[in-house]
Amino acid sequence: MTDSLTIRRPDDWHLHLRDGAMLKAVLPETARHFARAIVMPNLVPPVVTGAQAGAYRDRIMAALPDGMQFEPLMTLYLTEDTDPDDVAAAAASGLVKAVKLYPAGATTNSASGVSDFRKVIPVLERMAQIGLPLCTHGEVTTPEVDIFDREAVFIETVLDPLRREIPELRVVMEHITTSDAADYVRSAGAGLGATITTHHLVINRNHILVGGIKPHYYCLPVAKRATHQQALRKAATSGDPRFFLGTDSAPHVDAAKETGCGCAGCFTATNTMAILAHVFEEEGALDKLEGFASLNGPAFYRLPVNPGKLTLKRATTDYPAKIESDDGPVTVFDPGFTPAWHVAEVSAD
Ligand code: DOR
Ligand code: ZN
Repeated sequence: MTDSLTIRRPDDWHLHLRDGAMLKAVLPETARHFARAIVMPNLVPPVVTGAQAGAYRDRIMAALPDGMQFEPLMTLYLTEDTDPDDVAAAAASGLVKAVKLYPAGATTNSASGVSDFRKVIPVLERMAQIGLPLCTHGEVTTPEVDIFDREAVFIETVLDPLRREIPELRVVMEHITTSDAADYVRSAGAGLGATITTHHLVINRNHILVGGIKPHYYCLPVAKRATHQQALRKAATSGDPRFFLGTDSAPHVDAAKETGCGCAGCFTATNTMAILAHVFEEEGALDKLEGFASLNGPAFYRLPVNPGKLTLKRATTDYPAKIESDDGPVTVFDPGFTPAWHVAEVSAD
């Protein structure tokens, strides 16, 4: 039995860092293990222009503690007014690595998202020309569509028609939660990838609802039934390069989670690598962890693999149940088991 595993230093291809006091509190949790992260633009107001992304990047770097090495990979929030030239310039300068599509109203801070997809076709066409990926929050927001069906309906009614119209557009289906999404990725070519979160490998909808409602397991897209969870575990551990890690670690203070109308988001930055090692071992696929967390993402984004290494050792160590911020405490995701692995060492180069 292996007791030590060294992999290339991982990246997080979908992360919420927020701003201000929350940014200061959560950034070290990610930077401790991850070399880079695709940073979500759903601030209030959202990060829409290249100039706003540049200013946000500067705030992130200013919040990074001395001695930590981390590179934020910036994204732009797609609106119906997004200017294709601004997107192209931000990509050409190297600042922006993707554009994020939120259907209006789909999730936290998505009010400025897209309602009429025809209006964003010129931006998407430009992105296809320059090879800039589109990251999708893949859920329809139609009130009649059941929340558990919203991902599958998005694929059928929005994503597939869009990809047929602009076949060169490179797309990342973010935080996939269904076997339908995993199958759709497999049916496509190399221009389509998908991120999978830590929490969707660990929980299904029973974890949210059985024995009392668990607000810290509520996220969007909401966790589906166990068969879908199994399909995600299979996809993540398969070695298929089109699947890679995007934690969607999304901090909210406890007061905003433990309330009559709680926010969506699981905060997994702190213990993701330990949980993933545990899950991959359960699936008999520890040898696939490096591909999922450290190799497949850079390949899709056409970026170099990190020079650094991360070593996991078989040992249980405590991690904090909460991290403190000046806005209040944030609960760390509880996987419901004690991970059999912990991160023992990280090197930057
Ligand atoms: O659970 C989620 N939280 N899903 C999202 O899409 C957004 C995120 C957040 O920003 O809190
Ligand atoms: Zn997210």
